Amino acid sequence: MYDRSAEIYDAIYSFKNYEKEAAKLHELIQKHKRSPGNNLLEVACGTGGHITYLKKNYSVEGLDINQHMLRLAKKKHPGIIFHRGDMVSFKLHNQFDAITCLFSAIGHLKTKRKLGLAIRNMSQHLKPGGVLIVEPWITPQQWHTRSVHANFVDQPELKIARMNISKTKGKLSIMDMHHLVATPKRVEHFVERLELGLFTQEEYLDAFQRAKLGTNYDAEGLMGRGLYIGTRADC
Ligand SMILES: C[S@@+](CC[C@H](N)C(=O)[O-])C[C@H]1O[C@@H](n2cnc3c(N)ncnc32)[C@H](O)[C@@H]1O
Repeated sequence: MYDRSAEIYDAIYSFKNYEKEAAKLHELIQKHKRSPGNNLLEVACGTGGHITYLKKNYSVEGLDINQHMLRLAKKKHPGIIFHRGDMVSFKLHNQFDAITCLFSAIGHLKTKRKLGLAIRNMSQHLKPGGVLIVEPWITPQQWHTRSVHANFVDQPELKIARMNISKTKGKLSIMDMHHLVATPKRVEHFVERLELGLFTQEEYLDAFQRAKLGTNYDAEGLMGRGLYIGTRADC
């Protein structure tokens, strides 16, 4: 997962407005946070797109499971501490005023059990009064089998066509991402399979409530996928 595509991740997602998303996150953190500090952990940070802007207002650390993503994030943000870890089980020695987990990275956890463990683990890394913001993957009702998707990059020395047909296996959404990537050296084809859990709103809310977080849901969120915002009690 992402091993082959990490290098081209930023090109594929260049349409994403990380600056605008970070501005909304800042607004929500300030609204819901009750702790006085400003340190923030970006879980499943990928190449650090949000960190570029979040680091203006927060003392940021990043965490991801994928070493290629982390290498690129470190190159982009030499002054920032990054950790390699699984959101379900990572253990850091400090706690944070805010933790974010964005762009549906949470969907990579394929079971309700792992979803619950990850939300609990992240909430245990919050300071009293700290806030957890999770951008979910889409729900089973929103997912359509056999819909056709494509994404194109057209730079002078990089051309990419990425296509997939959505598939479903039980409660999993499956995307076999076919990449055709052209650089001055070669044209390559490779396929990366993404399998993401289709959790309902009730399942996300249940995970937050079990982690004892006071929870709010923002239906619009950063890009129409919604946001779950949980605040840890401040005593
Ligand atoms: C869609 S990308 C999102 C990256 C970044 N948050 C962004 O907005 O561009 C999903 C990220 O989740 C990471 N990831 C997947 N499963 C993970 C896990 N169990 N623990 C930590 N990171 C994980 C992947 O390595 C990848 O970097």
